[in-house]
Amino acid sequence: MKVFVGQPLVEPSTTDLLAGHTVFTGAGNLPRSEWPLFADADALLPTPRERVTAEVLAAAPRVRIVASHSVGVDHVDLAACRTRGILVTNTPDVLTDATADLAFALILAVARRLHEGEALARSGAWDGWKPRELLGVSLQGRTLGIYGYGRIGKAVAKRGEAFGMDVVGFDRDGTEEEFRAFLSKVDVLSIHAPLTEETRGRFGEREFLRMKKGGIVVNTARGPLIDEQALVAALHSKHLLGAGLDVYQQEPAIHPGLVGLPNVVLLPHLGSATTETRLAMARLACTEIVRFFAGEPPLNPVP
Ligand code: DGY
Repeated sequence: MKVFVGQPLVEPSTTDLLAGHTVFTGAGNLPRSEWPLFADADALLPTPRERVTAEVLAAAPRVRIVASHSVGVDHVDLAACRTRGILVTNTPDVLTDATADLAFALILAVARRLHEGEALARSGAWDGWKPRELLGVSLQGRTLGIYGYGRIGKAVAKRGEAFGMDVVGFDRDGTEEEFRAFLSKVDVLSIHAPLTEETRGRFGEREFLRMKKGGIVVNTARGPLIDEQALVAALHSKHLLGAGLDVYQQEPAIHPGLVGLPNVVLLPHLGSATTETRLAMARLACTEIVRFFAGEPPLNPVP
């Protein structure tokens, strides 16, 4: 079978598991110049950077499986896949701990002003210990609010408890009233819900203002859950103390208002970026393709 892989993966994954297939690998982002490469592909293996739109699928008429190298599948037109009877799979579980670690790293980085401290230490301008220098906030006794209380959300909750935080979780099926009550308790908000039509723009001016003053917002899920303009305003007004972001509304573009703020830590979508995790994700996506063409049921079908 012919498999098109969106961009080079951590190996051995394709070289090992897809050895019996013909593999073409793109350079990322699926530019039109690459489309002829998958015109006769039987399977696509995209990463979150490759948008598998209805148009892309139309350019790949033989494709029967889209095995995404990600847990989030908002980059795949699921309705178009359904119409064509294409199986979509994803890679949950193997990235839970890596993503939860990174979310917590962002929480600590913002609370303890790590990037400002690092910049000062490197600048040559630091002239010694001072009782009032770069004071952050303690996490102990503060309330960690998890929006999207699934696998990753619960793993972040465990980390919060270990740091002496009180944890409240909110599942996407909660009512508006419950959502408002949740927000009003939160000191540190960590976002872990998938991007859907319901969650797009979920956090805007009203929601940030409903959080406690001095709150911290961390997003390692998908950028469009947040209205970045509203976040910039809430940070400027000092209603929020800071934010830690790994994902962006118009990725890879980052709102210039965020870039200019000292109390914001910005990362380039690194949630699952450990060698072990990315290898496990790559192998899982390849395994789905192998299983599919061997007539075996998928491990992680996306409904
Ligand atoms: C995912 O898997 O959805 C992440 O965003 C990339 O690791």
